[in-house]
Amino acid sequence: RSEEVPVLTVDGPTASGKGTLAHELAESLGYHVLDSGALYRATGLAAERAGVSFDDGAALGRVAAGLKLRFTDYRVWLGDEDVTDALRWESTGQLASRVATVPEVREALRQLQLDFRRPPGLVADGRDMGTAIFPGAPLKVFLTASSLTRADRRHKQLMAKGISANIESLRDDLEARDARDKTRPTSPLTPAQDARLLDNSEQTIEQSRDLVLSWWAERSPFK
Ligand code: DC
Repeated sequence: RSEEVPVLTVDGPTASGKGTLAHELAESLGYHVLDSGALYRATGLAAERAGVSFDDGAALGRVAAGLKLRFTDYRVWLGDEDVTDALRWESTGQLASRVATVPEVREALRQLQLDFRRPPGLVADGRDMGTAIFPGAPLKVFLTASSLTRADRRHKQLMAKGISANIESLRDDLEARDARDKTRPTSPLTPAQDARLLDNSEQTIEQSRDLVLSWWAERSPFK
């Protein structure tokens, strides 16, 4: 039964390093990974392409319910189109943040997310993995980093792609997105009551990974 498959959740704000940490953990444990943000991003992209109004919750919910999304090795497909790069665009992140406030979308994506829980285990990353989707997970990590650290990381990523950006405005954007994610009425970004907080501002990815793996070894009732 899927409820017996172990799940480790990693929630936190934008650019906190959740995705990287989740992939590292999944690789170390040999588990599947759920990048739930990609589902919201794909919904935003599909809705925009279909010309659906972002004020029409019912129509957005239908887009989410009808997503033809497939994950293959390192690529993501929407229907026949490879949307791996388009999903990462900043503009897609903005669309995602808007559809994420719509209850019909969150409801439609719920079952899709639960379906990722398959043997031997799952590392789920997002905003509400520990609070709403997998509340029974034996280990819930809430990852944070200062907005300055996050802006600095994003700046380096953009520079590596040859895109120039201003750290101050990146920081303003991150703080605006955090505010929206934390104050929305449905599934706001907040740590689960029993989440373990991890501020990785001063940590390398290896240090964060090893710390969480030690928590997992301690916590997991499956080993
Ligand atoms: O983690 P990300 O940047 O890919 O997320 C994109 C947007 O989707 C973000 O603004 C918040 C939203 N999101 C959400 O509401 N719930 C999740 N579980 C994951 C993402």
